[in-house]
Amino acid sequence: MTVKLSEDKMYETLAQVISDYDANEDNLIQVLHMAQVIFGCIPVEVQKYISREMDMPYSRVSGVVSFYSFFSTQPKGEYMISVCLGTACYVRGGKKVLEKIKEMTGIEVGETSEDGLFSLQVMRCIGACGLAPAIMINDKVYKQLNPTKVEKILGTYMKGDAVNVENN
Ligand code: FES
Repeated sequence: MTVKLSEDKMYETLAQVISDYDANEDNLIQVLHMAQVIFGCIPVEVQKYISREMDMPYSRVSGVVSFYSFFSTQPKGEYMISVCLGTACYVRGGKKVLEKIKEMTGIEVGETSEDGLFSLQVMRCIGACGLAPAIMINDKVYKQLNPTKVEKILGTYMKGDAVNVENN
């Protein structure tokens, strides 16, 4: 079970992390990793806090956060949809699959839906080239997709019925 910490407790934990890393600029990436684990993302207020506590310019912290794609300034949705646009998936209709997902969720790549249900990202290959086009929703892989199948699959997630989704 995941326990959600209060905001005060999150900052307290982050302060401890910064102290464990001696507030040393060389450890900024490790501190940011931990901040993302604690807060779920690294919003501007958290970046400012880190810059104050580690005594370094805010621009340095925000520069590192924006440089690495694994850092996020926005909370991720409950379901991360990863659309493969590697060569095999692309030539077999991956783009149409992506368009259908955007249409249904109302979000663009890199965004999270307002209800916090979905985030959307694009990947280069998820190891299912023989059954392209493929996507992942969290760690579940869906293969040989087309817009109709996407509609059915996403529909079940929207209804909160994802456990019953057929992967065929
Ligand atoms: S290219 Fe999409 S799974 Fe490999």
